[in-house]
Amino acid sequence: MKIFSGCSNVPLAEKVANELGLRLSPIEFHIFPDGERRVKLNDTVIDEDTVIIQSTAAPVDQNYMELFFIIDALKRSGARSITAVIPYLGYQRQDHVFRDGESVSLQVMIRIMESLEVDNIISIDLHSIKIPELFHIQVKQLSALPLFAEQIKKLSQQKECSLVSPDLGGLRRIRMISELLDNMPWVATVKDRDLQSGDISIKSFEGDMALLKKRVCIVDDMISSGKTIVQSVQLLQKNGVEEFYVFATHPVFSKDATTLLQDSVISKVFVTDTVRIPVEHRFPKLEVLSVADTIAAELQEK
Ligand code: R5P
Repeated sequence: MKIFSGCSNVPLAEKVANELGLRLSPIEFHIFPDGERRVKLNDTVIDEDTVIIQSTAAPVDQNYMELFFIIDALKRSGARSITAVIPYLGYQRQDHVFRDGESVSLQVMIRIMESLEVDNIISIDLHSIKIPELFHIQVKQLSALPLFAEQIKKLSQQKECSLVSPDLGGLRRIRMISELLDNMPWVATVKDRDLQSGDISIKSFEGDMALLKKRVCIVDDMISSGKTIVQSVQLLQKNGVEEFYVFATHPVFSKDATTLLQDSVISKVFVTDTVRIPVEHRFPKLEVLSVADTIAAELQEK
């Protein structure tokens, strides 16, 4: 097996390769003065099973293009199989038409990858259960929930905890992690979104409020602007919760999310390394858990 990495998350790709006792195969990246990109594989792949690791987080379009070019280069160079490991799948929140006249951006990305003849996709904690069905190729979905469950178990051994999903879209996720934690009690806050402006408001709950403890662990798939988490925390606080721990797989961290989180009453924010966090987006309350072992274990099984 030969493993290549795009530029979006080299530290994660290196960790995965290390876990497998391999080194990343070299690629030459070049940017022309007009911004066009060129990639060139500097390793032979004829009849090899190949893996390309690339998170399609910001800059989303650039990272997707780079992924497409590497897949194309692998195909043209005679790879036997191509597995694209996309720890964070960009555009996954645009997986269907919300308002008439919209494109389904995720579907566009999927069509391109399929036309380039990728054999398999591996991704982590996809936004919706329906996303794998949009692909005509095999998609393996891995999860960071077991990593989060380990941390939540430690927190609940110190003090009783309940789980919280910050929106109803996360109910499946919260039930899954609750099961991993011997059916730890959970509630959800209910998020409404203005489909045009994207503004959100969180004002009510779903579930049995009697189950809400003073310490909660909020679990979500991603943090982008940070508003979902912060508004959920505000409502929980009004309802007697005193301690907040946040768990989100993908640290998308757009706008001033990191300041919002650091300046909040939240004690700690656990995320994973599916998205590389630049130094300027790191903050004292942040702890990053690695999904490298999870990805490596899946590749080993192939
Ligand atoms: C949305 O349904 C997702 O599960 C996340 O809750 C959301 O994308 C987080 O976005 P933000 O941090 O911008 O509120």
